[in-house]
Amino acid sequence: MSAPILEARHVTKRFGGLMANEDINLTLTAPVGQVVSVIGPNGAGKSTLFKMLAGYLKPSSGQILLHGQTITGMSPHRIARLGLVRTFQETTVFPDLTAMEHVSLAHQLHREAHDLEVIFGLPRARGDEIRLSESAREILELMELGAVADTEARHLPQGLLRLLGMAMGLAARPQVLLLDEPYAGLNPDETTRAVNITRKVAASGVSILLVEHDMKAVMAISDRIHVLYFGKKIAEGTPEEIRLDPAVIEAYLGKEDEELGL
Ligand SMILES: Nc1ncnc2c1ncn2[C@@H]1O[C@H](COP(=O)(O)OP(=O)(O)OP(=O)(O)O)[C@@H](O)[C@H]1O
Ligand SMILES: [Mg+2]
Repeated sequence: MSAPILEARHVTKRFGGLMANEDINLTLTAPVGQVVSVIGPNGAGKSTLFKMLAGYLKPSSGQILLHGQTITGMSPHRIARLGLVRTFQETTVFPDLTAMEHVSLAHQLHREAHDLEVIFGLPRARGDEIRLSESAREILELMELGAVADTEARHLPQGLLRLLGMAMGLAARPQVLLLDEPYAGLNPDETTRAVNITRKVAASGVSILLVEHDMKAVMAISDRIHVLYFGKKIAEGTPEEIRLDPAVIEAYLGKEDEELGL
């Protein structure tokens, strides 16, 4: 059996006396292209888990492996180079840059050529330039942003900005993409569109790990769902299994804004 793509083993995170994550186990298995969601009420520890997976927080204990190699405590940049990327938040958008320029910029952060070669325009860097702009165009097409490639970010509606954030994450050519609440603040049409595009990205060979409160979207898109509650994992399964899980229903009872759509 091949090694899992991503694995969290007994991961714990303490903030002072608070257990934000307690003994979390999570496995993203082959084949690539699956969509796996992490759900749970506010403060359950979802973002904390994502930050640890992507290297923005160090676990108090436990181990994280990417393609069987331990990445626990590595910098986000190194982890990105190994193929796991957390999406840029919309706050990193530059109003005067076009969609294409955003993806190119994200590409440059991950380019192979050494900085000096880029500065002096040596052949390898020029080759990179062409290859990267083709790749940026390809990513914009995949995200259905081709028509607004030359539009400045300040003219793009919220729904498209969110897709642009995802496009920037894809510029690193990750095998695993972590999306933290990618559909928050989108209207139903924008959400449907973004969900369909997320599926397309997964089908293109990127495994997606998703934190999302929109249960309709989660149920529609996920191959598997993990449920966190007060820092602990209380359930894992297919959308259908999760929908019927008594512990999950209990955890969500009384949370009108976070209905499971039962
Ligand atoms: N840097 C920090 N220092 C101290 N406590 C923190 C820190 N980050 C998160 N916490 C706490 O850890 C717990 C889990 O937070 P986290 O942000 O992971 O929850 P979440 O599931 O992403 O919630 P939400 O759905 O609201 O985004 C919360 O009680 C939060 O207040
Ligand atoms: Mg969060």
